[in-house]
Amino acid sequence: MPSLPPEPFRIKTVEPLRRTTRQERLELLKAAGYNIFGLRSEDIFIDLLTDSGTAAMSHHQWAALMQADESYAGARSYFRLKEAIEDIFGFKHFVPTHQGRAAENILCNLLVEPGNHIPNNSHFDTTGANIRASGGVPDDLAIEEAYQPATRHPFKGNVDLEKLEAYVQATGPDNIPFGMVTVTNNAGGGQPISMENLRAVADIYHRHDIPFFVDACRYAENAYFIKLREPGYADKGVYEIAREMFSLADGCTMSAKKDGLANIGGFLAMNDDDLFERAKQELILREGFPTYGGLSGRDLDAIAVGLVEGQDEDYLAYRLDHTAYLVEGLAERGVPVILPPGGHAAYVDAAAFLPHVPPEQFPGQALTIHLYLEGGIRGIDLGSTVFAHTDPDTGETINAPMELVRLAIPRRVYTQSHLDFVIETLAELYQRRESIQGVRTVWRPELLPHFTAIYEPLGDPATVSL
Ligand code: F0G
Repeated sequence: MPSLPPEPFRIKTVEPLRRTTRQERLELLKAAGYNIFGLRSEDIFIDLLTDSGTAAMSHHQWAALMQADESYAGARSYFRLKEAIEDIFGFKHFVPTHQGRAAENILCNLLVEPGNHIPNNSHFDTTGANIRASGGVPDDLAIEEAYQPATRHPFKGNVDLEKLEAYVQATGPDNIPFGMVTVTNNAGGGQPISMENLRAVADIYHRHDIPFFVDACRYAENAYFIKLREPGYADKGVYEIAREMFSLADGCTMSAKKDGLANIGGFLAMNDDDLFERAKQELILREGFPTYGGLSGRDLDAIAVGLVEGQDEDYLAYRLDHTAYLVEGLAERGVPVILPPGGHAAYVDAAAFLPHVPPEQFPGQALTIHLYLEGGIRGIDLGSTVFAHTDPDTGETINAPMELVRLAIPRRVYTQSHLDFVIETLAELYQRRESIQGVRTVWRPELLPHFTAIYEPLGDPATVSL
């Protein structure tokens, strides 16, 4: 097993975790409709549901909260955030939002017309849903390797440039209000995109006069991967690399709940003056006045400090090693995972883990249920429960390109022994994988179904282990 460098922090406040019995967990699952979103967090031992908004704040962030200015307009906290965002991202304007999807919502409301197409390496679910909600079509154009979990490639988040060029020609640039790239690519395994590819994508978009927006949630992890893996970047700092990344784009959507090391918040940034004016009006309607945008002054200050801490290279080296420890540990035990390790999570290939469970029976959801049942561990299905959708032309159901269970690691929260426990539990489940059956949907809403859908395990209760 690769050795893990010690955490570059020590623990000052602890949050006790409660153990439950298998029998209790079985009942809790039933009551939650076999949907892990329906569980109470106090009934979870290790919560790897998301790395979003779950970071442990530093004492500098907590201290910043005390200095926050809660004025409705023109608060000092806003100007501290503005300074941090301008310095790191370099865009001319920004509006704060209560989280990343609110930034997506404003962007889509302003720019997407019914029938428009928006390309990306892979849209995250909220991005895709916001585009659809405005009548647009989100399209994923990642390289082939992105869909081959076991294939190692240093930049699996890259966009397929030939595909993108052909796509722009076929769709017509006038029908593409903006193009995106998600760094790192969350829906495709938290995999980074190279500077070379980002530059080429920007070039294609700009040659066709298509504005380019980066989905920047995990930009610092992506920048550190560039430093580690891309020729010519080893001696550059993350700050410099990030500035170069954003200099290629016209704006970004950001959830500060990831690399902003904050528990809530986000923003929409752009260079275009007119778009900024319109974004402010949308913001006032939906979020709040442009100097707070749905956040308290305390949140603005926590983000301002967190954005800077999120670029610390000791922290980022630990962060990526910590994730690699979990991923490589699982791979060594035979558990099929996306390789190489991404930035924020291990992605178990549920289709390979449970080859006897077809996509219509949601292998990722089945594995998620069993992982909770066995170890009190909460992961999330990022397979067909999340990404399956109806083809607007044929009416057919299109399953997700991969059936993945994501184990996302909250920042600065869990230790190596927590990860060891996760590795052991999954390795044991893998030993008895044949006893795990799929699930069926009892009820689901139309948009973003996985949050509230109700499932039921399939199979004969006498022979399956549930
Ligand atoms: N884009 C990406 C790539 C994301 O991963 C997320 C959120 C968002 C946008 C939306 O940001 O939650 O602040 O509204 N991802 C979380 C996750 C929910 O668990 O991966 P948000």
